[in-house]
Amino acid sequence: MTESISSRISLTKELSIPPIGLGTYALRGSTLTKVLSYALKIGYRLIDTASFYGNEKEIGDVIRESEINRDEIIITSKVWNTEQGYESTLEAFERSRKKLQVDYIDLYLIHWPVPVKRKDTWKALEHLYDEGLCRAIGVSNYYIPHLNEILENAGIIPFVNQVEFNPFLNLTELLIFCKNNNILLEAYSPLTNGYMLHHEGLKKLAEKYHKTTAQLMLRWCIQTGVVPIPKSQRLDRIEENASVFDFSIDIEDMQTMNSWNQNLHTDWDPSDVH
Ligand SMILES: NC(=O)c1ccc[n+]([C@@H]2O[C@H](COP(=O)([O-])OP(=O)(O)OC[C@H]3O[C@@H](n4cnc5c(N)ncnc54)[C@H](OP(=O)(O)O)[C@@H]3O)[C@@H](O)[C@H]2O)c1
Repeated sequence: MTESISSRISLTKELSIPPIGLGTYALRGSTLTKVLSYALKIGYRLIDTASFYGNEKEIGDVIRESEINRDEIIITSKVWNTEQGYESTLEAFERSRKKLQVDYIDLYLIHWPVPVKRKDTWKALEHLYDEGLCRAIGVSNYYIPHLNEILENAGIIPFVNQVEFNPFLNLTELLIFCKNNNILLEAYSPLTNGYMLHHEGLKKLAEKYHKTTAQLMLRWCIQTGVVPIPKSQRLDRIEENASVFDFSIDIEDMQTMNSWNQNLHTDWDPSDVH
């Protein structure tokens, strides 16, 4: 069983990441500063952003002003769709790196598998990794056909694939494929963006474990072998979302939760991207 927010999952020979991270989509200004400072204070060390979120500069400010060693914080950023292509990805990376005010970005991802361009984008990420400017590289919103394309053509296999994943979008086939290829799956929108927090079955299980429905969904992710990156603008919820290491969901209840899959996408469905 994963023990705590301080536990680490090995990603590369040099880099290990925590079993849970902090999403930052739509967090800006003083709310972002307050949330991120608090999250770092209570032990979050994996921070998820993207050039598309427009908050890299503010995240860089908070990290710089924190008293935590740079090498303890794992910053993820992503190259956005309009930035894709070989040269433009290298330029986008440099913009992100400068805004974040860091020498290297720990984990750099292709945000979406943009047709045609994604192949050159991946070559740019391989170059950044070879140059030591990223500690790990990966993809996001890649389904099996997109991953097969990389496996067939690429020199480096992605270390991470970040996809929408939760009990109501339980991508078992993709998870098995990733496990077989040593690709760690990160779960975005692990709380279904809030849509299923009042699901009756989930409420019953939450009562049984004396936990909240959000905690049940996050714990389900961890026990399923994926790394959730929940987002909240509220400090009490930041703390609640990290408090998922003092209980474990038993096998029968995991199976019940596994049966809730309904292919619920709250973001675009990557199956439509060819
Ligand atoms: N790679 C991609 O394409 C992609 C796409 C989407 C998201 N992401 C990343 O994944 C992160 C998380 O996904 P997400 O933000 O879409 O969805 P999420 O984390 O599943 O859900 C966030 C929503 O749940 C609410 N919430 C959070 N904790 C809660 C709790 N304990 N109890 C009740 N409600 C709670 C939040 O409201 P409050 O803020 O008001 O608490 C917010 O409305 C993003 O922030 C982003 O970093 C990546």
